Amino acid sequence: MLVAVYGAGYVGLVSGVCFAKLGHQVTLVDVNKSRIAMLQEGISPIYETGLEDLLQEVLASGLLSFSSNMAELSQDISVHIIATGTPSLPDGSADLSQVYSVVHSLIEHVKGEALVVIKSTVPVGTGNAIAALINEKLHLASNPEFLREGSAVQDFLNADRIVVGGEAPAIAILRELYQPLIEKGLPFLSMSRQSAELAKYSANALLACKISFINQISQLAEKLEANIDDIHRAITLDPRIGNQFLNPGIGYGGSCFPKDVRALVQIAEAVGIDPGFLGSIDRINDSQKNWVFSQIKKHFKNALVGLRIGFWGLAFKPGTDDLREASSLVAIDALLGSGVKIIAYDPEANEQASARYAENSDIQFLESAEAVLIEKLDALVIATEWQEFKDFSLLELRDALSQAPLFDGRNCFSLESIERAGLAYYYSVGRPHFSS
Ligand code: UGA
Repeated sequence: MLVAVYGAGYVGLVSGVCFAKLGHQVTLVDVNKSRIAMLQEGISPIYETGLEDLLQEVLASGLLSFSSNMAELSQDISVHIIATGTPSLPDGSADLSQVYSVVHSLIEHVKGEALVVIKSTVPVGTGNAIAALINEKLHLASNPEFLREGSAVQDFLNADRIVVGGEAPAIAILRELYQPLIEKGLPFLSMSRQSAELAKYSANALLACKISFINQISQLAEKLEANIDDIHRAITLDPRIGNQFLNPGIGYGGSCFPKDVRALVQIAEAVGIDPGFLGSIDRINDSQKNWVFSQIKKHFKNALVGLRIGFWGLAFKPGTDDLREASSLVAIDALLGSGVKIIAYDPEANEQASARYAENSDIQFLESAEAVLIEKLDALVIATEWQEFKDFSLLELRDALSQAPLFDGRNCFSLESIERAGLAYYYSVGRPHFSS
C-alpha cells in the first residue's frame, strides 16, 4: 500500500520505518528539514534500539522516502497516518495544533478517496470532531500506539494488540495495512473511534497508577520502618495483582505518562466526571520526584552549599536518551538551586543534558561512571537504572565513596549486597536506610 506518515518524531518515525519493513511504500513527512536530511542519510535523530539499522535497511530497499512538502505528495497515497506530537498545554489538556495543521493540509491537498488515521494520542472525541471537518471521500480511523521508548521497534513488530477505531470501510483498510502482523497472530481489535481513543489513555493511566500506587506504599514503608521489597514479594505473587510496573523508584517520566494522565483528568472534568483517584496519580508522582532532594537535605542537615554530588543516570528510563519529565532533572534543579555542584554521567543522555544546562557552570558531564567517582564526591545519586550501574562492583563503589552516602533512586542493589560490601551509607526507596 502507499502510505504517508506525518511527523517524524518517535511514534511517526518508528511506525513509518516499520510499515516499510512490512512491505508498504512509505513517505515520511515532517516540516523539520534538518531532521529529514539526517534521515535521508540513514541517521536516526533519536536513540532507539534497532531503529537505525532498520532505517538503513528500508532505505536501501527503496520502500521509504521523505518529504517536507505536503503539496508534492502523490495522489495515489491511500493511507495518511497522523503521528504528530500532542504536548501538554499549561492547563494539562493536549495541544492539538499540529494534528489539526496536518488535517487542514490533507483537506487541501488530497483530491481522491483515502483513509486518514489518527495515531497521535488525542482527547476522546477528537476523531469525531475531525470527521465533521473532512469531506466524504476521506475516511477516518483512530489507531493509538502502545510502543515503549527503548523497545519501540520490537513493540511495533510484536505488539500485544493492534487497536483500531472507526467504521467498517476504514477498519477494512487498516486490516490490510496490518495484514503481515495479523498473519503472525497479533490480536486486531476493532471498536468505535471514541473507545480506541479512551483505550489509549486508560492503558497509560493504569500503568502510571501502578507506579504511583507502589511509590505511595514505599513512602509509607519508609515512615513505618517496613521494607518495600518484602511487600512487593508478598503482593505480586497474587496473579490478580501481577508483578509488572510495580517497581518503586523516584517517579515516572517521559513524554507519555505525565502528559496522558493530566489529559485524562482534563477529559473527565470536561464531561463533568470527578477525576477522583486519577488526579492523585500525578500528585503522588510529583512528590516522589522530590525523594532525592529531601533525603540529601536530611542526611546533610540542610547544609548543602558547596557539596559535590555525583549523578549516575539522567534519562527518564534506561535504553533512551530522552530527558522529558525525567526525575533526575527535578533533583538536579533543586540541588543546583541550593548551591550544590553536580558531576553527572549518562550512557546516552549526556549530550541532551549538556545542552539543557549549557549556561550553568556548576554542572559538568563526564564520559563514564568511573570518571564521576574519581571526582571526590560528597554523595552519589543513581537516577536511572542503567544495567552498567547495576553491574558495577560494590567493593569498588565502597572504596570510591568512602564516607559519602549513596542515594539509590531506583533500588539497583539488594540491601544484603550493600551490607556485604560494607558501604558507609545507603539510602533507597521504601527500604530501611543502611549505615555501617
Ligand atoms: C509508555 C507505555 O509503557 C507505552 O505502552 C506507551 O505506548 C507509551 O508510554 C506512549 O504512550 O507512547 P514509555 O513512556 O516509553 O512508554 O516508558 P515506560 O517504559 O512505560 O516507563 C515510563 C516511566 O515509568 C519511566 O520513567 C520508568 O522509569 C517508570 N517506571 C516504570 C517505574 O518507575 N516503575 C515501574 O515499575 C515501571
